[in-house]
Amino acid sequence: MKKRAVYPGTFDPVTLGHIDIIERASKLVDELIVGVLVNKNKVPLFTPEERVEMIKDSISHIPNVKVMAFDGLLVDFAKQSRANFVIRGLRAVTDFEYEFQMSQANRIIDPEVDTIFLTTSTKYSYISSSTVRELASFGGDISKFVTKKVEKKVKDRIKQNK
Ligand code: PNS
Repeated sequence: MKKRAVYPGTFDPVTLGHIDIIERASKLVDELIVGVLVNKNKVPLFTPEERVEMIKDSISHIPNVKVMAFDGLLVDFAKQSRANFVIRGLRAVTDFEYEFQMSQANRIIDPEVDTIFLTTSTKYSYISSSTVRELASFGGDISKFVTKKVEKKVKDRIKQNK
């Protein structure tokens, strides 16, 4: 049986930290499915389709990764994707409580879905999508946080929104 994992997130936008996790997680499984949450409660900077495209563009060098949007519960998305594992990145201890709760809740809902945590590479430990959006909104330099293409898209979108 093929080993499949889902790597879920909002990815608004995808950062170099996410790409690092995708590269490393792809080596642990036969197939990795990156799931972009269609989050109707938040107003994202990018549509789910745009977020999917930006990730696809950033990981085209990795053969065993698929990217798609999902709505609803993560465990249902994992089931639909025939994945038994969820991958999450841990940057710092501050991520731990939320991640711990989420993995416990997911395992209660579906005991067959287990979470694997990968600690983020130190050079990316300070990066988050919200930092990228915040920095960019004040004209800050985000070139060390995202790919060149994503940098341009973020800058253009923020200009558009002003
Ligand atoms: O990148 P993020 O925003 O930290 O990702 C959070 C995400 C998408 C993994 C989480 O919000 C999620 O799984 N949402 C789907 C709904 C769900 O299953 N919630 C129950 C978890 S307790």
